[in-house]
Amino acid sequence: MQTKASGISSELRSRFASARSVLVLTGAGVSAESGVPTFRGGGHTTLWKGMPFNVLSLSRMIESDLAAVWEWFNYRRGVLQTLKPNPAHQAIANWRRRFEEFCLVTQNVDGLHHAAGSVDVIELHGNVWRGRCLQCGSRYDLRALGTREGVPSCPECGGSLRPDVVLFGEMLPLGAFEQAAAKAENCDLCFVVGTSALVYPAASLPEIASTSGAYMVEVNPERTPLSDLCHEVLCGPAGEILPLL
Ligand code: OAD
Repeated sequence: MQTKASGISSELRSRFASARSVLVLTGAGVSAESGVPTFRGGGHTTLWKGMPFNVLSLSRMIESDLAAVWEWFNYRRGVLQTLKPNPAHQAIANWRRRFEEFCLVTQNVDGLHHAAGSVDVIELHGNVWRGRCLQCGSRYDLRALGTREGVPSCPECGGSLRPDVVLFGEMLPLGAFEQAAAKAENCDLCFVVGTSALVYPAASLPEIASTSGAYMVEVNPERTPLSDLCHEVLCGPAGEILPLL
């Protein structure tokens, strides 16, 4: 079923009122109305200092030019610093208190769910506001470390820090997917918000929820490969649709 933003069905309202366990998977689209560019929305590859961002975000850049990776992520944090959560982030943050069990899984690294008040967020792709030591694995809040030029060092062991995000070609943080998959298996209502559903394993979470019998709802202005397995596709911007629930 495909519905316009204003048309939240009575079926969904009733499922929302009675759901015991809810899982929400978000992607770049949930932050679009905050001004964060999506990955696949623009139709062209973003260049930064002459280098395409998908090259800058390759895992091999950590070995070949860690300073350039930091410069790129410092730039991204500088942009994010000026942006605020939107009504979609806020609605999701409020949902936590409504359900017996609630799990928010995001592919975003921008930290805007936390800024809106969400807690216990499963961040499948890491967070740009954290650094991780290449030597001892310690993690740091980069805001507490302060901004620096060049490659920051680990206060514990002196090793080089890297941004604590998943770069192209890297594994997800240990246990993050497994934890999310267990929640997906047990939810009775699943929202898929603002993701093109092209990147795995994140995109397999709604498939797990669907196979396990959850009521599936997609929120996106465009159809995705997951639309056909959803009971409802709410076609429009997340910042307008989610607050209606
Ligand atoms: P994409 O850029 O692939 O998809 C963004 C989705 O958001 C599209 O389906 C849009 O139609 C939708 N969208 C745009 N504006 C929206 C709005 N206002 N409300 C709701 N939806 C909206 O982003 P992701 O699916 O998040 O991985 O991309 C997944 C992963 O691909 C990213 O986490 C990143 C990238 O490779 C890593 O960096 C490891």
